[in-house]
Amino acid sequence: MHILHTRAELHSALQSKPRPVLVPTMGNLHAGHLALVARARELGSTVIASVFVNRLQFGPGEDFERYPRTLQRDAEQLRSAGCDLLFAPDEAQMYPSPQTFHVRPDPLLAGELEGASRPGHFEGVTTVVLKLLQLVQPGVAVFGKKDYQQLLLIRAMVEQFALPVHIEGVETVREADGLAMSSRNGYLDASQRAQAPQLHHALRELAQRVRAGCRADELRDAETAAEQRLRSLGWQPDYTSVRRRRDLQRPQPEDLARGDQLVVLGAARLGGTRLLDNLEI
Ligand code: PAF
Repeated sequence: MHILHTRAELHSALQSKPRPVLVPTMGNLHAGHLALVARARELGSTVIASVFVNRLQFGPGEDFERYPRTLQRDAEQLRSAGCDLLFAPDEAQMYPSPQTFHVRPDPLLAGELEGASRPGHFEGVTTVVLKLLQLVQPGVAVFGKKDYQQLLLIRAMVEQFALPVHIEGVETVREADGLAMSSRNGYLDASQRAQAPQLHHALRELAQRVRAGCRADELRDAETAAEQRLRSLGWQPDYTSVRRRRDLQRPQPEDLARGDQLVVLGAARLGGTRLLDNLEI
């Protein structure tokens, strides 16, 4: 596997390997990322991963500074997973001048859930993803469903700007106790780690209530009950919410009657660590 640090190195490596499959990451890789690489290998002959901790998508007071940077270990894992190229630029390569042009994602999709809790987050995500797509020119880019809203926004951006890339979503990988794999799980101490699957359990219970035949006007009560349950266990929930899969809007009575596909999403803080998860119903 070749490691490329500069745009020039990337450009020259891609001369003989056009339109690869891209797996964008912020590093500190775990089995969830490796599942993205495995899917990428099924989809194309050249797989390129990127590792870049993108300052633009972190708000003031968030964990940009302490976000784990583990490039050497990441490179070893990517090599063993069969990745062909690793693009690991520094800030001067990604943002040679301050990034004053930004993608402004549709507020209907970007302003709620994660967007409401983390203002500006999706602007930062879509801006860096657009830039990575421009630099790498992949035929396919692979993202995890764990960041469900991110995946939908990237799909919408690609569609709106007619970008010539297919966006592939990959199922969330979980620990044996149900906790969704995340780089931020590493912030948890032993007792928080033992509690962490409670978020998944709360979403599962909420999903079961919906499956059992919740009416649209009962959804808010079910969501509040899930948040209260988390609060009683020592969490500070930002939201738990039942949404339509296709656009993440609240399901209307006619959506439920039609059997529209739904997803349950949640984000909550345990101590200083913010975890998020979702389940398709
Ligand atoms: O999902 C992530 O790790 C990041 O949001 C992404 C897509 C790599 C952009 O920085």
